[in-house]
Amino acid sequence: MSSAAPAFAPAPTADAPAPGLNPRHITIHPLTGHIGAEIEGPDLSRPLAPEAVAEIRDALARWKVVFFRDQPLDHAQHVALAEAFGAPTIGHPVFGFVEGHPQIYSVARDRFAGRHTGEPLIRPWTGWHTDVTAAVNPPAASILRADVIPPYGGDTFWTNLVVAYEALSPTLRGFVDTLRGIHSFTAPEGQAGTDDFRDKNRRRPLVSEHPLVRVIPETGERVLFVSPSFLKRVTGLAPRESQQLLELLFEHVTRPEFTVRFRWRPGSIAFWDNRTTAHLAPRDIYSLDFDRQLYRITLKGEVPVGVDGRPSTAIDGEPLDAFSAATA
Ligand code: SIN
Repeated sequence: MSSAAPAFAPAPTADAPAPGLNPRHITIHPLTGHIGAEIEGPDLSRPLAPEAVAEIRDALARWKVVFFRDQPLDHAQHVALAEAFGAPTIGHPVFGFVEGHPQIYSVARDRFAGRHTGEPLIRPWTGWHTDVTAAVNPPAASILRADVIPPYGGDTFWTNLVVAYEALSPTLRGFVDTLRGIHSFTAPEGQAGTDDFRDKNRRRPLVSEHPLVRVIPETGERVLFVSPSFLKRVTGLAPRESQQLLELLFEHVTRPEFTVRFRWRPGSIAFWDNRTTAHLAPRDIYSLDFDRQLYRITLKGEVPVGVDGRPSTAIDGEPLDAFSAATA
């Protein structure tokens, strides 16, 4: 995808039919009122017809996260699928990649072990995040593929941040439209980073200021761009004001009616628009003895722009680039 090309197709307008509702190459099964659809039809292990790619993009623009079943891809097929929709970044800029497959991040059950010490302060929004928002250009989309899945437990949730924005009162929308906030990979509240966590963050520092409301360029949609795990404070507010406002917004975006819950099976794939959603990795797996292994590819994203037209700024670190063997 060229950097000028829109990542995803336009959302429905009042006088245009909703995209993806009359597709010819795929069948779409919506899962909730606001977010999530299962897509049936394509074989993702083979190159997709351009029409199928366009229809999947349309479905993604409408439903924000789309799911596929029974697609047992290997790493190379996963990379080829991602390349049909954009430019894969390095697996994870701070926490590494699968050996021999630099575009793939291992979402292993115990990937957080060794990053932090201490008891985390658990709140209703703990664990909710949008991928890599510490970067000035967070990924446009993520494609997560299930390999080993527990017989029960380990479901993932996504929330629609466009609908969440629209559900705020006009007065609060007007206020948050003017705000910006700092995103970073600092340890969760109540915990401290281990030496390894601090070393990794020193080697690839990432801290950015993003608008609290970003505008999607090709659709004009306004997104309540709050990533509970990484958005640490609101610029220009006193610490207590910032804390209270963020808690209100984090609680709001995780309201169940904005969300979808996905039950994985081996070979399932979730493909989400990372600009307009946040997601919750499961915690119940830590009280079960089962293994869980998924693999994720993120697609390069643009620098977000606020309602006032101001782009995000990097406080520390370089933008995420498309993966290239020459720069790895
Ligand atoms: C992720 O946060 O990208 C992974 C979600 C999951 O483990 O289900």
